[in-house]
Amino acid sequence: MAKSVVAGLDRILTMELVRVTERAAVAAARLRGRGDEKAADQVAVDAMRQELNRLAIDGTVVIGEGERDEAPMLYIGEEVGAGGPEVDIALDPLEGTTICAKNLPNALAVIAIAEKGSLLFAPDVYMDKIAVGPGYPDGVIDIDASPAENIASVAKAKGVPVGEITACILDRPRHAKLIDAVRATGAAIRLIGDGDVAGVIHTTDPEETGIDIYLGTGGAPEGVLAAAALRCTGGQMQGRLLLDSPEKIARAATMGIEDPKKVYRIEEMARGDVLFAATGVTDGNLLAGVKFGRDSITTHTIVLRSSSKTVREIKARHQDLEKF
Ligand code: FBP
Repeated sequence: MAKSVVAGLDRILTMELVRVTERAAVAAARLRGRGDEKAADQVAVDAMRQELNRLAIDGTVVIGEGERDEAPMLYIGEEVGAGGPEVDIALDPLEGTTICAKNLPNALAVIAIAEKGSLLFAPDVYMDKIAVGPGYPDGVIDIDASPAENIASVAKAKGVPVGEITACILDRPRHAKLIDAVRATGAAIRLIGDGDVAGVIHTTDPEETGIDIYLGTGGAPEGVLAAAALRCTGGQMQGRLLLDSPEKIARAATMGIEDPKKVYRIEEMARGDVLFAATGVTDGNLLAGVKFGRDSITTHTIVLRSSSKTVREIKARHQDLEKF
């Protein structure tokens, strides 16, 4: 069987992707805890773009910093790369801008690359999401089932009482009912202030992170990035765009979304061969943040590949500090 374009390139691209998220993470980390979300995001965008433009790809940003008129760089539709195979790119140079500004856990620099046409072209609206990590039977979660049904289903499949399940939910007023419903089951909740890409990824390793299931509404672009990561580890995820106004429905239609209520399965958000990389900006449950030493900078990155389900963790000590 012929290897796909991305699969054929993975041995080069995997390492190249690490450099891309490392650079963005180090740039953002220099502004950790400075209370300035925009400045941290901007330096991460600049660094990621510079590194992306060195890659031997012909890339199109499909999930980026926003639409062309609102994002000067890494906007949706921007072409990046030094030339090579055509790929789609989903990126968030600083996922969790507020977390970084406050120096709280789990800010990341993230990117996913897939064959052209493989990533959901999602508008910047909210998405309702539900996700679990690998090892569960197909259909263990259902976005249309109640939180109690989903928690019970995951507990049964895991072989533990419901009280031993922990759900991760963004701490937002819009989630008040969801939070009550989950608590009523006896399950625990990890409330996060921001950063639901990390929240979803944390379901991949419950023993390490303590999180079994992700529930709730967050950004649709972050949903696609999270789906790309979970595709690589074998987890399950469903998402539904919240297109709650005629304007949003029309905008989504221009991006090819005909059914505004469609439930997207993980394979519909990230198809084919996908590579995903994330570098910790601040310390987190899965990834350490950037550490600035006297003579070196240390970064911690996870790189995933869907076709082999390889999970690589790369701790790098950078001594050529001029590059950063
Ligand atoms: P930013 O990095 O753009 O600040 O996004 C952080 C984030 O928490 C995402 O992880 C999440 O999907 C989204 O914001 C939730 O949106 P809102 O803050 O409007 O609830």
